[in-house]
Amino acid sequence: MSYANSRIPESAQQGVHTHLAERVCTHLASPFRKPIADVSRAARDDALAGWDGHAPLIVDAGCGVGHSTIELARTYSDHCVIGVEKSEDRLQRRKPYPDALMPSNMVFVRANLVDFWRVLAEDGLRLARHYILYPNPWPKIGHLGRRWHAHPVFPDILRLGGVLECRSNWAVYIDEFACALELARGCPVAGEAFEAARPLTPFERKYRDSGQCLYRLRVDLDAAAAS
Ligand SMILES: C[S@@+](CC[C@H](N)C(=O)[O-])C[C@H]1O[C@@H](n2cnc3c(N)ncnc32)[C@H](O)[C@@H]1O
Repeated sequence: MSYANSRIPESAQQGVHTHLAERVCTHLASPFRKPIADVSRAARDDALAGWDGHAPLIVDAGCGVGHSTIELARTYSDHCVIGVEKSEDRLQRRKPYPDALMPSNMVFVRANLVDFWRVLAEDGLRLARHYILYPNPWPKIGHLGRRWHAHPVFPDILRLGGVLECRSNWAVYIDEFACALELARGCPVAGEAFEAARPLTPFERKYRDSGQCLYRLRVDLDAAAAS
């Protein structure tokens, strides 16, 4: 398969899912009670072991091979950046960056975000920035509940606060994320198309080089909560 022929997610769903609002409201009204695995608490301990308790926290959720985590750590050198990824294989593939060139203000953890987000929220931790970059789109109509904004963990994502940014090559994903945020926050949230002049992640580079339109939304949850 050649590199720059990545496809936009194909879906029978052309706009915001008709059950999105109902699903989001259900999750906002009822806490997610699935037990948290011990391994997820251990991952939290690993992630925060080098944190001084003061540096603002950034989470790169579903960081894949971690290039964005490294870039964010370089950009926000006074922050502590946590790259979270469930695939050990992807985490190991962050090479060819040699360890010696890795920023010291970041850490990678292998964890399931469904638990990891809840452990951080349970601890009362607040993020300065939170990136969800090119999450699996789950474009089938029946897979709505697997998209992060329609997942039971969505309220915990919001509880972590900070500037939340989500990017996707599927406009519907960003439109739905914006709708879910509006329902939760009670104020308008808009996504936008954008040009990735300097791609932050390998997926972003691949989609851009395939000529696709890219979409993002960015919302300051703390500002929204304060207003
Ligand atoms: C489409 S890839 C995008 C990777 C990277 N953000 C990028 O843009 O290059 C989505 C990533 O999210 C990870 N992921 C999906 N569900 C996850 C979960 N529940 N917990 C942790 N990582 C997850 C996948 O393993 C995959 O690496």
